[in-house]
Amino acid sequence: MTEPTGRDKAAAAAAKAAPAVQAVTVESFIAELAAFQAAASESLGGVADAAGLELARIEFLGARSGRLKAIQKLLSGLASADRPAGGRHFNEAKGAVTALFAAVQDTLAGVATGSVAAADAIDVTLPGEPQRLGHVHPITQTIRRVQEIMARLGFESVDGPEVEDQWHNFEALAIPAEHPARDPLDNFYLAVARGADPLLLRSQTSTVQIRVMENRRPPLRIVSLGRVYRPDTADATHYPMFHQVEGLLIEPGTTMAHLKSVLRQLASSFLGGDVHVRFRPSFFPFTEPSVEFDMEWGGRWIEMGGAGMVDPAVLAAVGYDPEEVSGFAFGLGVERIAARRYGVADIRDFYRNDVRFLRQF
Ligand code: FA5
Repeated sequence: MTEPTGRDKAAAAAAKAAPAVQAVTVESFIAELAAFQAAASESLGGVADAAGLELARIEFLGARSGRLKAIQKLLSGLASADRPAGGRHFNEAKGAVTALFAAVQDTLAGVATGSVAAADAIDVTLPGEPQRLGHVHPITQTIRRVQEIMARLGFESVDGPEVEDQWHNFEALAIPAEHPARDPLDNFYLAVARGADPLLLRSQTSTVQIRVMENRRPPLRIVSLGRVYRPDTADATHYPMFHQVEGLLIEPGTTMAHLKSVLRQLASSFLGGDVHVRFRPSFFPFTEPSVEFDMEWGGRWIEMGGAGMVDPAVLAAVGYDPEEVSGFAFGLGVERIAARRYGVADIRDFYRNDVRFLRQF
């Protein structure tokens, strides 16, 4: 072992008086900051309570011996040209870790007051949220069921437009211009017209009888289910928009007996064999003779629709020879037969859009 020289002693004394500054490159300084940030975020991610957070704060941000403080000391080892960049990186890392710290602190405070689920925990072992499946609206179910029943009796399902002209909604159905059924107060006329012909939202599906007969020759068995519109005040059995099922049969030798048996068959297939129906004499401009078709419900008779033998004037209007062809037609309220089937006392319930009601069907 050699004795220290005088120069060594002088250097040691100088080092004691002013500790040597360790030279640091800007790259290694930035790497230090990155390692600090990664370690802080990993550690803060595992913090579960206020005590753990305080320990992490002391380790990373502690003013005396925190890891950030140690990195700050390295700043002076940077070449003076690198110091501004080093300072900027230092401040960014400090800001990021301080913000992370504050966020964890907020979350823990939320957990303590119950405003955040415990540490946002997702327990993957819990059963999943059941997906609730929707289903078809009871009125649509009714429409499809009626179509099925009528298909078995040989009736083809057809559609017609909801915006109609005077001819199909009234004139061809023998409802002349002065007839009260055409009153603007009883119909939804549209502001637009086709030429001189005012258009309206159809008030009945009997329009489809005309449209089909204009385009086809007998024999015919069709059924049409769709929306109709009338400015009726809504109550338990009325709604301004409702649905009708229209039936039309044109075949040689058709009588009222055929009409009655088809309606009875429809009623008992849709509502069960024990349903009581009755036919009352009535009047419609487009059938002769005409009947009203009622069903018994809770000791009362409820009107379900109208029917009759197609009037010769209607057959002539579509170009058929009334001497040669005959047939019957009927139109029933879909909401009313649906209400009877499902035991719904007020048809407005179908359109309140309350899923607690709709879910039952
Ligand atoms: C008609 O609409 C005729 N087109 C029926 C017809 C067709 C007769 C073929 C002869 C031959 P009415 O206006 O009565 O008739 O209506 C028929 C049915 O629709 C009524 O019995 C009722 O069940 C239903 N209905 C009528 N207005 C409303 C309403 N505002 N809300 C719910 N249902 C209604």
